[in-house]
Amino acid sequence: MRTACVQATPDAVARAALLLRRGQVVAFPTETVYGLGAQATNPVAVRGIFVAKGRPADNPLIVHVADAGAAEPLTRGLDDRARALMAAFWPGPLTLVLPKSGIVPPEVSGGLDTVGIRLPAHPVARALIAAAGAPVAAPSANRSGRPSPTTASHVAQDMAGRIPLILDGGPCMVGLESTVLDITGDVPVILRPGGVTREMLQSVLGRVAVDAAVLAPLEPGSAIRSPGMKYRHYAPRAAVRVVTGQPPARAPRLCALYDAALARGLRPVILAPQEHAAGFGGRACRPWGSADAPQQAASELFALLRALDEEGYDPILAEAVADAGIGLAVMNRLLRAAGFAVEQAEQL
Ligand code: TXA
Ligand code: MG
Repeated sequence: MRTACVQATPDAVARAALLLRRGQVVAFPTETVYGLGAQATNPVAVRGIFVAKGRPADNPLIVHVADAGAAEPLTRGLDDRARALMAAFWPGPLTLVLPKSGIVPPEVSGGLDTVGIRLPAHPVARALIAAAGAPVAAPSANRSGRPSPTTASHVAQDMAGRIPLILDGGPCMVGLESTVLDITGDVPVILRPGGVTREMLQSVLGRVAVDAAVLAPLEPGSAIRSPGMKYRHYAPRAAVRVVTGQPPARAPRLCALYDAALARGLRPVILAPQEHAAGFGGRACRPWGSADAPQQAASELFALLRALDEEGYDPILAEAVADAGIGLAVMNRLLRAAGFAVEQAEQL
């Protein structure tokens, strides 16, 4: 299959919508990451997403709507909490997990009785979904296990030959996937942190829990609330290690890991906030965001992981970021990219 990658002009959006109506899979920009969409109400089309991505069938897809009114029919009714969240954060990077209605095929929900729904903020995404005439199921447009794509060329790297069309809407603003919030129980639970932060959700809901799997590996045999947590994610080809612990002890630990990797004939690189980047002697270091600007670290992470792979670095040694605000999402993705390989630096 030949894959066209075109600017997201109104004509191109109309062409993409026609492909969706015919049951095809197309890639499109959102404010978080690029999505790989198919009509959510067409099970055959939805299966095409799993084939293109190489995704396990038990990992459910998020259903994207063009306006808030399109959400309710996908659910068994919206409560006050759902309505308050939609009013506060839609359109935007928040996916709500709700009990699903019969309209949502099991192919989309991975066999669960819930569905994740999101109204994206990106104008191209909204125009496309509206023109497609039905909600659009869309995971991130990467091959399963790879870092999510934040530009159209990342999508092309992973999807060339597998889908007919990629709409290019430029780089994604947020750069990490949406917050996934389960509101089916008494206490809302963040299954995946993202651009709508825990603090923002608490301002509307009061108490909000964070699933244990966000910052720690799943215990064998523990109940899994979000099937996506089972799989290695966001991973570049290079090994990633995250250095946490006492801030003054981190630079010496990063340097020691770097020197050990070099001595083994490897080609290491350090990722550190820009204000620390001068502290590693002549070692290869990429400044990554800043301690005061975690949004920048968020928007750059996936592109940086892909670029470092292309430049042949391995391992990638990353200094941890503070996990407040969107920093929680940054740490979640970094730890998963590392397969939870963490080095705790202590002062002697
Ligand atoms: O920002 C985003 O959410 C992007 C863009 C394209 O909108 N989409 C995205 O989809 O990240 P995906 O499939 O890569 O990640 C969806 C995550 C998975 O971890 C999945 O397990 C979880 O959301 N999820 C989806 N539906 C769920 C449900 N009903 N219950 C629990 N987790 C669910
Ligand atoms: Mg994904």
